[in-house]
Amino acid sequence: MADGDLKGRRITDYVHAYVRQVVQPGECTIDATIGNGHDTLFLANCVGLSGSVLGVDIQEAAVTATRSRLRAHGVLDRVALHAGCHGLLLPAWLTRGTLAPGSVAAVLFNLGWLPGSDKQIITRGATTIRALNAACLLLRVGGVLAVTAYRGHAGGSEEADRVVSFMNALSPKQFDTTAYKGDTPTPTSPVALFARRQA
Ligand SMILES: C[S@@+](CC[C@H](N)C(=O)[O-])C[C@H]1O[C@@H](n2cnc3c(N)ncnc32)[C@H](O)[C@@H]1O
Repeated sequence: MADGDLKGRRITDYVHAYVRQVVQPGECTIDATIGNGHDTLFLANCVGLSGSVLGVDIQEAAVTATRSRLRAHGVLDRVALHAGCHGLLLPAWLTRGTLAPGSVAAVLFNLGWLPGSDKQIITRGATTIRALNAACLLLRVGGVLAVTAYRGHAGGSEEADRVVSFMNALSPKQFDTTAYKGDTPTPTSPVALFARRQA
């Protein structure tokens, strides 16, 4: 992607602009941390009427909030929401054949906690990495894995480091990896990490 086009954007805007360039109408996508549904709504608009989004969150409150946002925007029909841990659900979708390897255009992770909710319920490195492994297998050629990691809360920096190590360990023949830290990065500012499947 031409970085000049996106320079200066907020991290979430940057992620959406990147993913929008990849996802085609009619494709399947995953939001692995639906939260209040902003990213799920974004994906539902990218895939259009004939596409699909699978959404996951460990909190039922997130499923409820996301369902109501999608319904208000008239796009609930193309989204399936699941309450559960992405570290269990994404691998299960592969092993049970719910999704075929290489069938997904984009997988989004927006780590951390549900805004306006219990800050003790946060994504954790071990389950995040399990889900990322499955996400890589699910991606189609040209598809993208996008992870937004927050480094300002307890455990956030360690989780971000684990995601960076995960990305760095991917085969460069199979994945092209990039990062975006914004214009004025600090050690505690958020970072977006991307892996684009090449082969
Ligand atoms: C920063 S929020 C996501 C924001 C969301 N993408 C949006 O657009 O509003 C992070 C979410 O991850 C969820 N979460 C934490 N651990 C999880 C896990 N193991 N599996 C799935 N979701 C998890 C939290 O409940 C929270 O809703």
